[in-house]
Amino acid sequence: MIHEKDMKFIINGQKPLNGEISVSGAKNHALKVFPACILINGDINISNVPEIEDIHRIIEIMQDLGADIKKIADNQYKVNTGSISKTDLNPELIPKLRASIMLAGPMLVKYGQVKMPHPGGCVIGKRPIDIFLSGYKKFGAEIIENDDHYLITGKNLKGTEIFLPMISVTNTETFMTMATLIPGKTIIKNAAMEPEIPALAEFLNLCGAKITGAGTPTIEIEGVNELNATDTAIIPDRIEAGTFAIMGVLAKSKIKITNCEPKHLESLWAMFDKIEARYKLGKNYIETMPAIELKATNLKTHEYPGFPTDLQSPFTVLLTQTRGMSMVHETIFEGRLFYTDKLSKMGADIIMCDPYRVVINGPTPLYGTKVESPDLRAGMALILAAMVAQGTTEIDNIYQIDRGYQKIDERLRNIGVDIQRINDA
Ligand code: EPZ
Repeated sequence: MIHEKDMKFIINGQKPLNGEISVSGAKNHALKVFPACILINGDINISNVPEIEDIHRIIEIMQDLGADIKKIADNQYKVNTGSISKTDLNPELIPKLRASIMLAGPMLVKYGQVKMPHPGGCVIGKRPIDIFLSGYKKFGAEIIENDDHYLITGKNLKGTEIFLPMISVTNTETFMTMATLIPGKTIIKNAAMEPEIPALAEFLNLCGAKITGAGTPTIEIEGVNELNATDTAIIPDRIEAGTFAIMGVLAKSKIKITNCEPKHLESLWAMFDKIEARYKLGKNYIETMPAIELKATNLKTHEYPGFPTDLQSPFTVLLTQTRGMSMVHETIFEGRLFYTDKLSKMGADIIMCDPYRVVINGPTPLYGTKVESPDLRAGMALILAAMVAQGTTEIDNIYQIDRGYQKIDERLRNIGVDIQRINDA
């Protein structure tokens, strides 16, 4: 059995790119649509599902609960959760996927109880779940914390008002989804506004929910008695689209990124304008073009519609190739800049001021070396760095990259990247 841990990418840098690359369905939309199916009666057909590890994990966990989930074609699944027969989330499977926490809320609403192991933290941060727990309590649930799991019960949940102490994407989605079947009115204030949230709300409303305000800081939900199946499609992955656009600019190449929503990436276009990158936007495509010289700039991540934290590491790689001094300020996760030591190892001039800020001087040539992928977004950023580096780069722990990017080596080879997936065992 080949263990994912033994797989690695070998990349030979400085190849010119050309051609087209199509964007997959959004991981961070699909990871909320599957759990929402717990509250919906009947067969739900979900299309444009990315075939990535995180999605396979959430399916595994739901099948372990008894849900009937079938792959009916590539990127297409049929889900029926009527056969769920237990409310204990599998402690072997939960730590592999932080987003598995999205199952707890719907399970609590549907079955009145859920046994939830502590979800894992990860390299980008402690990933606390305090806001989830306080939200469940506000709906009227009771929580018993044991050493390795939470027992959450709530037979008479009631609509409530929740002001999120931090603009949390998954908390916004969890409470919005739960409230669709909780009697009474729920108001979520200081809600996140990422595009995946209105997309999830639209799907739930088509099933019979009464959600208004998704995509704004205040979401109102009127509980209904039941939700009935309707088919849905996962929206394009804006983080993948943005990463490919950064890749084209970085490689000073003309590539076309298709099947995407440029309007979900206005913060990236604003940053491209600041560094004087050359690109063209269509209704559902992006074209990058070579620029003579890119200018350094400061970058600060921010909740949507600000610059997404998930694009910070690819953009930081780009900043190492811009002329002048840049500062990157990561405001969302406390551990999301530690990968920069690997860029320094490749030749970048990066100084860490504190866990949230680095200063970059560029441009500096990058050189191939052996690195390990810390998390999925930094792993993808290392691929970008390897693509412009002189020589060969070896990236280990590529399971982290396969978590979020479907067949990434195949798709990159199709636009000219010299990348091979090899088994190191
Ligand atoms: C979602 O994570 C995404 N994951 C992340 O993408 C993304 O980086 C993040 O939103 C920000 O855009 C999914 O949608 C599955 P948060 P989420 O709650 O919801 C703190 C990727 O690479 N917080 O918006 O978990 C938290 O520590 C992943 O695809 C609490 O304090 O992020 C952070 O500092 C990585 N208590 C801040 O809120 C809580 O109970 C915002 O995080 C929950 C979060």
